[in-house]
Amino acid sequence: MSLVQSFQWRYAVKKYDTSKKVTPEVLADIFESVRLAPSSFGLQPYKFLLIQDQIKLEEIGRAANGQAQITTGSHVLVVAAETNVNEKTVADYIDKAVVARQTLRNNLEQREQFINGMLSKMNVQQRITWAENQAYIAVGVFVAAAAEAGVDASPIGGFNNAAVDEILGLGQKNLTSVLLFVLGYRSSEDEFAKIPKVRKSTVEIFQVV
Ligand SMILES: Cc1cc2nc3c(=O)[nH]c(=O)nc-3n(C[C@H](O)[C@H](O)[C@H](O)COP(=O)(O)O)c2cc1C
Repeated sequence: MSLVQSFQWRYAVKKYDTSKKVTPEVLADIFESVRLAPSSFGLQPYKFLLIQDQIKLEEIGRAANGQAQITTGSHVLVVAAETNVNEKTVADYIDKAVVARQTLRNNLEQREQFINGMLSKMNVQQRITWAENQAYIAVGVFVAAAAEAGVDASPIGGFNNAAVDEILGLGQKNLTSVLLFVLGYRSSEDEFAKIPKVRKSTVEIFQVV
């Protein structure tokens, strides 16, 4: 399937077939695409938490008003943004760049100062919003990668963020929940599969200026 065909095939599944599970190989392939997603300065200030603890999963389901995707999906992830992006975050990134690009740290010091300079213009809340925005980009890649692999997915923003942060102790980990993300295979009973997509036309979105 082309990417366009994959997007025509996919929809935000509301009910999954509980007998079908995404294999570790397919999951790893989707995760690899998400790992390669672009982000501002390349800092990737987020984590994708795969929830396997059944009790926490049930609590998260309740925090999402019992949306059936969470109880029927194959895999449930919590997308979380980092809340304390700081000079260490940047130093860790530069350390990786030294290795990946086989260069000396000296050669990347100007880049490090530039990134720190840009981050210093943001207050704490602005940095969190910036980190959340980066997480959303990775979620977009997640949606595409899943569809391309023939795996259904549901991004879920309708949940109590504070409750999920509490359930997972995200505050202590300097994280905050942004979205829930469910993977699996659609149930044949999911009526939403038959509903035509509602989208703006191309000219409404792309405009020549
Ligand atoms: C950030 C985000 C949050 C969403 N939150 C929910 C949600 O809480 N519950 C839900 O049923 N669908 C949710 N959706 C799915 C959208 O409603 C759906 O993608 C949109 O209506 C377009 O339909 P389609 O994806 O089926 O083509 C969310 C989608 C995104 C991208």
